[in-house]
Amino acid sequence: MRFEATVDECIVTHGEIPKDLAGGFYRVGPTWKRPTKQGPNPLLSMDGMVQAITFEDGVANFKNRWVRTPKYVLEEARKQGMFEWQDGGFGDWRDTAYGEVKRDLGNQGVSRGVANINIFPFAGEMLAASEQGGPPIAIDPITLETRGIVPWSPKLSSGLHTPAAYGDATFSAHPKWDPDTGVLYGWTYSDEAPYVVMHYVSPDGSVDTRELWDAPYNTVAHDIWLTPEWVVMPFQPFLADKKRFEKDLNIWEWNPELPIVIALIPRHDLHGEIRWITTDLPAQYIMHTMSANVVGNELQLDGPIFNRPPFPFEQDFTAGDDIALFFSIAKSNLGRWTIDLETGKAKSEQLSDRPSELPKVDERFYGKGYEWGYQVGGVVKRSGMKMNNLTVTNMKTMAESTYQIRDNEPAAVLEATFAPRKIDSPEGDGYIIVPVSWWAEKRGEYLIFDTDDVSDGPICRIELPFQIGWTPHGHWMDFR
Ligand SMILES: [Fe+2]
Repeated sequence: MRFEATVDECIVTHGEIPKDLAGGFYRVGPTWKRPTKQGPNPLLSMDGMVQAITFEDGVANFKNRWVRTPKYVLEEARKQGMFEWQDGGFGDWRDTAYGEVKRDLGNQGVSRGVANINIFPFAGEMLAASEQGGPPIAIDPITLETRGIVPWSPKLSSGLHTPAAYGDATFSAHPKWDPDTGVLYGWTYSDEAPYVVMHYVSPDGSVDTRELWDAPYNTVAHDIWLTPEWVVMPFQPFLADKKRFEKDLNIWEWNPELPIVIALIPRHDLHGEIRWITTDLPAQYIMHTMSANVVGNELQLDGPIFNRPPFPFEQDFTAGDDIALFFSIAKSNLGRWTIDLETGKAKSEQLSDRPSELPKVDERFYGKGYEWGYQVGGVVKRSGMKMNNLTVTNMKTMAESTYQIRDNEPAAVLEATFAPRKIDSPEGDGYIIVPVSWWAEKRGEYLIFDTDDVSDGPICRIELPFQIGWTPHGHWMDFR
C-alpha cells in the first residue's frame, strides 16, 4: 500500500455502523516505500504505515499515513534509501534488518527506527513502536500526523542496536497498561547482558527502569502477561544474537535445549524481589499472550502455543531460499501454561484443536483477570496454518463461537480488536472489528461483529476501494 489515502464517510455495504461506537481503530505495518541501498526491503526495515478507521454517529472515516520517523524524513528529502544493514545483503531468508546499520556520512546521527509493528494508546496519543531500532513515535489520533519521538525516549534503553543519537532508544511492541492509572509496562531486550531492561512509564512521562541482571539468556522478549501483582515475562529459547552473522547465519536461533523460565516481576514495586521459575515445560513457543488469571494458588497463562517459533532457522532453510514467515511455517493452538505458585511446578495444556493466533482481549480489563478471548482462527495448511475465521472463546467454560470469513478466496484476515458497547459495559460486551484485505480483488473491508453472537456474521461491512496493506497489530482508542 504505497500511497496515503483519505476516505471520508466510508461505504457501508451491509448493515449499519452502531451509533454508540465512538473511537478509532489504529493499526500499523511495514510498508514498501522505496528500495534500500541493498535492493529489496527486508521486512523489518520497511517504514511504518498507520491505518486508522474512526467512528462517530454511525459514520466511519478512513485514513492511512506513513510514520514520519527520522529515517523516513531523511529518505524523503534525498528521494532514495539511505540505509544498509549487516543482514540486508544476503539476498535470501536471512535478510531481516535486525543487525547493525552500516553507518556512513549519509545516515550518521539518524535513528534507524521504522515504528512498524504495533500502535497503542498512551496519554491521549497513539504510539507507534517497532520493538527494536528506534523509540516510540507519537501520532495524532485524528489527523495521523506524526508528532514525533516521545519526550521520554532518553530514559529508555537501546536494545539490540547501537544508538545513533541522543534519545535513540527502543521499546517493546506489546506493552500492557493499567487501565486505571495509565501506567505502561514496557521493556527492551538485547543480545548482551542484562538481556532485558524493564521500563514502567507513567502518563506524566516519568520512567521507572530496572535491568534484569539475573535473566537466564537472551530471549526475544516479544510479549508479557499482566496480572494484578506481576508483569509475567517468559524467557523462551527463541534467541536473537548478532554474533551469528559472523557465521553467515541470520539473527534468530531456536534452541529447545534451554528451559522455559518465567519471571514474576513486581508490578507495583519494580525494584522488589523478582521470582524466577525454571520450568520443565516442553519446547514450545508463545509469540503473543492472550491474558492471565490467578485462581487460588494457580497462575494461568493463556495464549496460542506454537510447536516452534514462526520464524526461519538454519534447521529449515539454506542459502538462496526465499524468506517464509509466521503462519506459513508454523502452527499454534490456544493453550495454557499453569504455574503452581506454591511449588513452582508448571504444566502445559492445549485448550482447543483449532489452529489460531493473534489473541486479543477487552483491554479495559488488562491486568485484572478475564473471561473473553478473541483470535483469528484457521485450518492446518502444510506445516503452518491458513487463517480464515474469527474465534471468540469463553476462557472460563472454553465454549467457542466462530464465524468463517473466507473460504478459498485469496485474502488476509487480520487481527481482530474489541471495542466496548459503552465505556462502562461489562467485560466482553461490545463489538469486534476485523480488517480483511481482499487483495486479489483490490478491495479492503472492516467487519464489525456484535459480541452477543459472532456466529451470525458481521452486523456491518465497511468497504474500502483498495486493498489494505498488511499490518501485524493495532489497538482501539475510545473517544467517549
Ligand atoms: Fe507481535
